Amino acid sequence: MKARHYALAAALLAGSIGAGTATMRLAHGQPAGTKGGADEGKRVFMRANCMGCHKWHGGGGGGYGGDALSLRNTQLDQEQIVETVSCGRPGTGMPHFTRDAYDQNDRCFGLTKKDLGDNVPPEPQIFLRPNEIEAVANYVVTHLKGKGEPTLPECLDFFGEGSRVCNVLKMNEESGGGAQAPSPSGQGHGG
Ligand code: HEC
Repeated sequence: MKARHYALAAALLAGSIGAGTATMRLAHGQPAGTKGGADEGKRVFMRANCMGCHKWHGGGGGGYGGDALSLRNTQLDQEQIVETVSCGRPGTGMPHFTRDAYDQNDRCFGLTKKDLGDNVPPEPQIFLRPNEIEAVANYVVTHLKGKGEPTLPECLDFFGEGSRVCNVLKMNEESGGGAQAPSPSGQGHGG
């Protein structure tokens, strides 16, 4: 993990910020075959700001863009998630991540912007390519769907060890959850 970040940082420092980023990443030791894997999916989840509405854990809830549904409780399968992300949800705050989703009626639900009027789903901060949508749908299915309450290990996995964002969960686990397991309170930092 660290090594890869370091390699990426080095690549960026080497002066290739911008157009070539994706290629650089591949050139710098990203094992072939992780394309569309969980790592890429997570990157898209963050970059496309799914987490801005659905939260890092996918649990959703109120926020800007309305009440984002829980991706942990979703009943949708991979294919339906791809469609939802590509086309958004007409009449809701779920954006369409395919740029030309409603330009012609052969893309999304047989509908165009004209048909939908005010109910066209909002535009996202960034549009995604089909392979990115695949990857993020994969991520939802493998990492979020069907998972119960968000846990501390999950949080640390998402943000990285030692991330302060997860302190809230840490406190929950130490105070509320830990009836049977006394938590080591002396040293704050393990290793
Ligand atoms: C601007 C806020 C916003 C962003 C950004 C956003 N969503 Fe949503 N999403 C919503 C809302 C609101 C809904 C609920 C739509 C409804 O009421 O049917 C939703 C619904 C969904 C659903 C349907 C869940 C179900 O069980 O029906 C999926 C899947 C989904 N979003 C995935 C994503 C993914 C993946 C991303 C990032 C690529 C993303 N969303 C980005 C707001 C957002």
